Amino acid sequence: MLDLCISNCKIVPGNITRNIGVDDGKIVSIKSIPIPAEKIIDVSGNIILPGLIDAHVHLRDPGLTYKEDFKSGTEAAAAGGFTTVLDMPNTKPVTNTAKAYMEKLKIAERKSIVDFGFHVGADNLDQIQKLASLRPASFKIFMDLYEDDFLIKMFSKISDLSKNKDNKPIISLHAEDNKIVNNYTQLKKSGDNLNPFVYTEARPSHAEVIAVSKAISLANKFNLNIHICHASVKKSLDLINNARNDGCNITSEITPHHLLLDSKYLTKFGSFAKTNPPLRDIADKIRLKDLHLIDVIGTDHAPHTIGDKKHNIWDAPPGIPGLETTLPLLLTKINQKKMSFVNVKRLLCENPARIFKMPNKGFIKEGMDADFVVVDMKKEDIIKPENFHSKAHYSPFESFKVKGLPIITIVRGKVVMFDNEIIGNNGKFVYC
Ligand code: NCD
Ligand code: ZN
Ligand code: ZN
Ligand code: ZN
Repeated sequence: MLDLCISNCKIVPGNITRNIGVDDGKIVSIKSIPIPAEKIIDVSGNIILPGLIDAHVHLRDPGLTYKEDFKSGTEAAAAGGFTTVLDMPNTKPVTNTAKAYMEKLKIAERKSIVDFGFHVGADNLDQIQKLASLRPASFKIFMDLYEDDFLIKMFSKISDLSKNKDNKPIISLHAEDNKIVNNYTQLKKSGDNLNPFVYTEARPSHAEVIAVSKAISLANKFNLNIHICHASVKKSLDLINNARNDGCNITSEITPHHLLLDSKYLTKFGSFAKTNPPLRDIADKIRLKDLHLIDVIGTDHAPHTIGDKKHNIWDAPPGIPGLETTLPLLLTKINQKKMSFVNVKRLLCENPARIFKMPNKGFIKEGMDADFVVVDMKKEDIIKPENFHSKAHYSPFESFKVKGLPIITIVRGKVVMFDNEIIGNNGKFVYC
């Protein structure tokens, strides 16, 4: 007999009711008739989606565990309907050596509730080859931190790993130009202006647009696949899509806060809404009508302590937690008919699985990992950061009304969240 049957689930689009049989952590059958199993979970007509994949999280472990760790961070993921998270390398130590990678792996295996993979730093040139053999999700480059000549060195070294483009690791980029960001920030700071909205001017839109064009020329020159993290302005999406039409293998990601908020929220929430790149003015921001130009929604879950965030706009660290707000916010948009389940599956399940090469994830199909999130589209709530499982109890979405909530999260056949209760510890490393 099978381990598990999830019965009476609605599969979208199409709204067909099915029973999903699971054995050994895999989907083994999808049927309209009942499937006998040792355990039956009847979801009584609610919608089931593939477990969400967050391609961009900062879980702060090791070294910054007072901000978040693999336990609290992946509990937040499970609570938010995410079954796989890809962690960023800016921990302490930075994940830019094989040794740091193996240490992070040990910690994550011990503490994670959901499946996980790692992006690695590219700034340790001598370690690039070793790191590539450990199957990271990507090499991450913070363009805001490095000058052009070093960017070229990193691209060149990664390119040298293979002759075949598709065997080369993907490069993920934080695309903000180092020089522009530093110059403008100095300028704005010297104006002695503590009004939070100046932060958007200190890291202007053209710093991103120029970095994106630079990334495209480097990708073409070195014959590499690149992924632009947290694009914040519409112009970047146009550049990316034009480059793709010209044969560049490039994908784009956007965060829910850049999609749904604008720079006015900096005035409202001060440093709690500070993030890089900054929230944009209405005039150049990305909107829901641009979703067709985007490949991935990543939360850029970047938790800090309330104490850190209470500092003024220049001294507070940038970053907003997103794992527990993203799905409720997007389901609310679906209820308002402003986006669709097809969008959510494409941007948070199928594309992240394809781009970061996780062949068993992202689809409800026989043979795939049994990762699911069941959502109740009628359930309502108000976003209350004090209730987050994350250690970061703040959000610029605080007190937003949401309709549509995740109610069950399942990782490889094991329930890890039921009615906002976290159960168990099932996380496994995902080879990318
Ligand atoms: C991130 C962090 O806090 O690690 N902060 C942010 O504002 N997005 C770093 C990053 O993704 O650039
Ligand atoms: Zn970034
Ligand atoms: Zn980030
Ligand atoms: Zn908890």
